[in-house]
Amino acid sequence: MTDTLSPQSSVLSPDLDRLLRPHFRAVAPYTPIEPVEVLSRRLGIPDDAVIKLDGNENLYGPSPRALEALARCARYHIYPDPLQRDLRQALTAYTGLGVEHIVVGNGSDELIDLLMRLTLEPGDRVLTCSPTFGMYSFNAGVCAATAVDIPRDAAFAVDAEAVAAAVDERTKLILLPSPNNPSANLLLRADLLRLLETGVLVVVDEAYAEFAGETAADLVPHYENLVVLRTFSKWAGLAGLRVGYGLMAPRLAQLLDHIKPPYNVNVAGLVAALASLEDLALLQERVQAIAAERERLYTLLQTVPYLRPYPSRANFILCAVMERDARGLKDALAGVGIFIRFFDTPRLRGSVRISVGLPEHTDRLLAELRRM
Ligand SMILES: Cc1ncc(COP(=O)(O)O)c(C=O)c1O
Repeated sequence: MTDTLSPQSSVLSPDLDRLLRPHFRAVAPYTPIEPVEVLSRRLGIPDDAVIKLDGNENLYGPSPRALEALARCARYHIYPDPLQRDLRQALTAYTGLGVEHIVVGNGSDELIDLLMRLTLEPGDRVLTCSPTFGMYSFNAGVCAATAVDIPRDAAFAVDAEAVAAAVDERTKLILLPSPNNPSANLLLRADLLRLLETGVLVVVDEAYAEFAGETAADLVPHYENLVVLRTFSKWAGLAGLRVGYGLMAPRLAQLLDHIKPPYNVNVAGLVAALASLEDLALLQERVQAIAAERERLYTLLQTVPYLRPYPSRANFILCAVMERDARGLKDALAGVGIFIRFFDTPRLRGSVRISVGLPEHTDRLLAELRRM
């Protein structure tokens, strides 16, 4: 198996080509991270020798209760509940919001896609603040919309006035993660309130909120133009099962529910997410352990002469790489089985992003960074 689809597959006959929507020819593909089995095969090492610090995954894995529930479930041959009633009900206690505010998706990625398909006409605009999560501009491109970037400042803070000033009659959405990926800082509440005043939909993507202990969910009942996105991928260790959810005004939730594929979240995802909410104490202990490990990793990274880590409220740390090539550093670590993230964009070309793993991963990483 090659790593990409074969080049011939991108050539269509003129007859078929004319059926395509023209804007798709210009959509740049999203660059995803590679799965463990591909990395281990490439290096010729066993899967469990791979230290995967490139995907902001939770290396503690799913909760034991989730694993037991998955093993016990006898309903894999039956379609899942299209309304995800049990999970949405369980989420009311976790989020403090009623079921009418909650939409469940195949990862929060699906909710980003659905929100754009609900709102964007070709030529519409979404506002993003780079450096940030790449799916926003990717999904906008799929909808033939334009992602307009209002770059963050040197400390990665959002320039809320500049974002508000960029809103025009074609602007439908503002998308801001809190904590931001990859800079790991929070969106300030004052900035969020300023942006809500613009009247366009403000999507606060809280994929990493559990590691920061801060949320905008309490504002959802007060602002019909606020959407808060969450996921089980990070704090609950279910990235591979793809369960996310959105918190929003009931009418918006209803509309997203109408346009989503009915069986968008599978039985395994629902079973594991429900069991995770029943194993909160243990999962929250792990979140605390990851936050503590983040602080240890940050302190240790500060001792590496060629790295300048930025403070983090998430489960990853962005580092500026000084006087050496960031991509070269990423490749050198990959050569010894440690995978970190490098982004080939002008602002981030001199940086790497390192996910917080288990204590033994920090120790191995630091030993290699000191040796290199
Ligand atoms: C900011 C942000 N939002 C959303 C996601 C996607 O989350 P999910 O796994 O729920 O699709 C990620 C994943 O890395 C992310 O960094």
